[in-house]
Amino acid sequence: MTTRDFLFLLGSSRTGGNTETLARLAAEQLPAGTGQRWLDLRDLPLPDFEDRRHADGHPAPTGNSAALLEATLAATDVVIASPLYWYSVSTSTKRYLDHWSGWLEAPGADFRRRMAGKTLWGVTALADDDPAVAEPLAGTLRNSARYLGMRWGGVLLGNGSRPGDVLTDTEAVTRAKVFFS
Ligand SMILES: Cc1cc2nc3c(=O)[nH]c(=O)nc-3n(C[C@H](O)[C@H](O)[C@H](O)COP(=O)(O)O)c2cc1C
Repeated sequence: MTTRDFLFLLGSSRTGGNTETLARLAAEQLPAGTGQRWLDLRDLPLPDFEDRRHADGHPAPTGNSAALLEATLAATDVVIASPLYWYSVSTSTKRYLDHWSGWLEAPGADFRRRMAGKTLWGVTALADDDPAVAEPLAGTLRNSARYLGMRWGGVLLGNGSRPGDVLTDTEAVTRAKVFFS
């Protein structure tokens, strides 16, 4: 049986927010033996992305970039847990995704080949009552998965503004319990 290793990337700008709560609810249902690694992108801040693709190229990543690349490549499943900020992903999440462009060129990383076949998932909390406003976030992740030949697992949405609100979104809690199955 193939072991799966989930990497949860927390992209909120606060601790204990609704997105993380929802992601942890979903993760509780993962089968025993499934690997789980949780990284808060605020603990591994990345520099602003510099596009060197058509200049001198991208060097091998160092520091937090190298750590995030290693964690990403080690996972079979990458879960982007970003709150909905201005209808899309948070800044830390977007910067992480921008760095994928550098990793595509990083010597020895073989990023495109190694990302293909992994599954990309999204988890997000939003204050708006209309889940359709999260479509830009869902599209960003869905299209990014397709670009890299990844499977798209879908996005788990929950409603909330204050931390803890999402637990009162009973439909989201129900969806969380089967999201990864
Ligand atoms: C910078 C910022 C932008 C936001 N933009 C949106 C938005 O576009 N649509 C929305 O429904 N809620 C928006 N919100 C509300 C958050 O999505 C909501 O409070 C969510 O619960 C935050 O997730 P967290 O608790 O995991 O941090 C925004 C909040 C912040 C701080």
